[in-house]
Amino acid sequence: MNNKKLFRVGFIQNNPVFGEIESNLAKVESLFSSNSADLIVLPELFSTGYHFLNREEALTLGESIPEGPTTQALIRICKQNQTSIIAGIAEQDGDSAYNSAVIIGPDGYLGKYRKTHLFDTEKNYFDPGGLPLSVFDIGSVRVGVMICFDWRFPESARTLALAGADVIAHPSNLVLPHCPQAMITRCLENRVFAITADRVGTEERIPGSPLRFIGQSQVVDPDGNILVRASETDEETQIVDIDIEKARNKSINSSNDLFKDRRNDLYRT
Ligand code: ACM
Repeated sequence: MNNKKLFRVGFIQNNPVFGEIESNLAKVESLFSSNSADLIVLPELFSTGYHFLNREEALTLGESIPEGPTTQALIRICKQNQTSIIAGIAEQDGDSAYNSAVIIGPDGYLGKYRKTHLFDTEKNYFDPGGLPLSVFDIGSVRVGVMICFDWRFPESARTLALAGADVIAHPSNLVLPHCPQAMITRCLENRVFAITADRVGTEERIPGSPLRFIGQSQVVDPDGNILVRASETDEETQIVDIDIEKARNKSINSSNDLFKDRRNDLYRT
């Protein structure tokens, strides 16, 4: 993988059963033997499901990172398949619960990110993340990580791009319709690739209040092209080759460079 400019990336769009960590994980693991890639992104909370009812549930189903069984299983999968995985999982750290993502390479655990912008009822059971939005080296490719609703805050993707991200890995559990299109703008604004890995299906943990997830996992390039996009309803794995050099050139014509033309003297952040 080192120094090669074509990078094979993809996502798994799954439909986990809430609380069934072992079988949700086993189902995802079974897909790796038939799909080879440099980087696979899995959805937010891919092994637990999404809709926790309270903090106790989040702490019980959450795992320590990297010692917990889900991270350890992902480390084994990455070693066996010589791949990298970025996956959303529930994290328990003492009395704190986080909506986290783990970053794992073929040689093992690289780090974690904790969702910064919690969505709706997540605020009732997760703590907001306080780790920096960070970029990880996967071979010679720089991969930034954000989780789902972070898309609604353009500062998240911008921070990752300014930190040198070529690719934004974006584990998600989307319930609002706008994100797949909005991520095209995030890619255009920053000239980065983005891999959004979403889930499908419905969770009805509160009778009469179903949450339906919109699928449409996708890979978008720095020109805003949708390279692949999954359906709204089916479990799917999709993989595509991307040319990383495209993300390293921030000029959009002979006069404009997206980073050099920024007017920090006028912006208020
Ligand atoms: C979301 O942030 N899972 C909508």
